[in-house]
Amino acid sequence: MANKLPVGILGATGIVGQRFVQMLEHHPWFEVAWLAASDRSEGRPYAEAARWKLRTPIPPAVAKMTVSPAAPDGAPKIIFAALDSSIAAELEPRFADAGCAVVSNSSALRMASDVPLVIPEVNACHVKLIETQASRRKSGGFVVTNPNCSAIGLVLALAPLDQRFGLETVMAVTMQAVSGAGYPGVASLDILGNVIPYIAKEEEKMEEETQKLLGKLNGSKIIPGAFGMSAQCNRVAVEDGHTESVSVRLKKKAQPAEIIESWNSYTAEPQKLRLPSAPDQPVLYLEANDRPQPRFDADRGAGMTTTVGRLRACKVLDWKFTVLSHNTIRGAAGAALLNAELLKAQGYLG
Ligand SMILES: NC(=O)c1ccc[n+]([C@@H]2O[C@H](COP(=O)([O-])OP(=O)(O)OC[C@H]3O[C@@H](n4cnc5c(N)ncnc54)[C@H](OP(=O)(O)O)[C@@H]3O)[C@@H](O)[C@H]2O)c1
Repeated sequence: MANKLPVGILGATGIVGQRFVQMLEHHPWFEVAWLAASDRSEGRPYAEAARWKLRTPIPPAVAKMTVSPAAPDGAPKIIFAALDSSIAAELEPRFADAGCAVVSNSSALRMASDVPLVIPEVNACHVKLIETQASRRKSGGFVVTNPNCSAIGLVLALAPLDQRFGLETVMAVTMQAVSGAGYPGVASLDILGNVIPYIAKEEEKMEEETQKLLGKLNGSKIIPGAFGMSAQCNRVAVEDGHTESVSVRLKKKAQPAEIIESWNSYTAEPQKLRLPSAPDQPVLYLEANDRPQPRFDADRGAGMTTTVGRLRACKVLDWKFTVLSHNTIRGAAGAALLNAELLKAQGYLG
């Protein structure tokens, strides 16, 4: 613990909170020192309060920890937050006002004009928005967010194309895993053998977050990406991994080999800085005509690599392809962990 920074997890008992616990177990820079959740869990040992759903056991040191009340008193100065958005809207600013760096998964503050919405491989420079937050001036605390779990995979696949060819239009249809709905999530009788063509507020989040992520920082403002964007979101009976069928129109002409090369060669800040959770290859193109598939490809790059496949010409737009990313790793806890590593590398964590 001596050389590591102590961190806390808000919402530690939930699906994303559990991923944080798992991913932080052997982290070289951070160590779990504090856990908080709702009144239901407060005061109980973590192993008893959390309905653990992961395939690795609860780290023994965390299993014994008592779940604290979700208040800043006694909490460490670095907080990973995995709260429902209605609760996050109230609690995250309270922790930031108390001087904490809040690295959030929730949608509550993602679109606020002074809150960075960050994928370190795509828009690391947006982190500077932190300096415009009132809490930063008052107490040093701030909030940084990662995107919605289906926007992350999409944007990792779009960013290399946007940088090289320019995006004009994007249409995406998702097939989203049940773990994306938290625990207990969707009732088994509703989802088994079924597809649900509605996820509350998901299409709006994908559309607006994609444009903010691919937008440009202009002084203290983000100018959203100017491409047209339409998303349709479906829940399917898959445990982990969101799959997306995507069509794009590009500003410049592109050959398939150039598109594939722009995905496979894409690296950015996290790879240059060798951040501990950064995958060597953030985007990987799979040549087999029936990949990517969640069962076989969601865990690539320890769940941090977005896989793409089935690139082909589109008769309506220019190109179509399939994207897959792990929703609770690259789409949630891993995304926040990489954001925190970027913040540390940029000197924001003291
Ligand atoms: N699942 C994903 O793939 C995913 C991906 C990206 C983003 N997210 C976002 O991450 C957040 C967490 O999602 P999840 O899937 O982990 O949800 P979840 O499984 O329902 O977990 C929610 C967590 O919040 C805690 N909580 C509930 N009410 C609280 C309160 N009043 N005060 C303090 N803590 C409270 C719960 O504690 P108790 O156990 O004590 O009730 C639990 O730890 C959400 O905003 C979600 O949209 C999820």
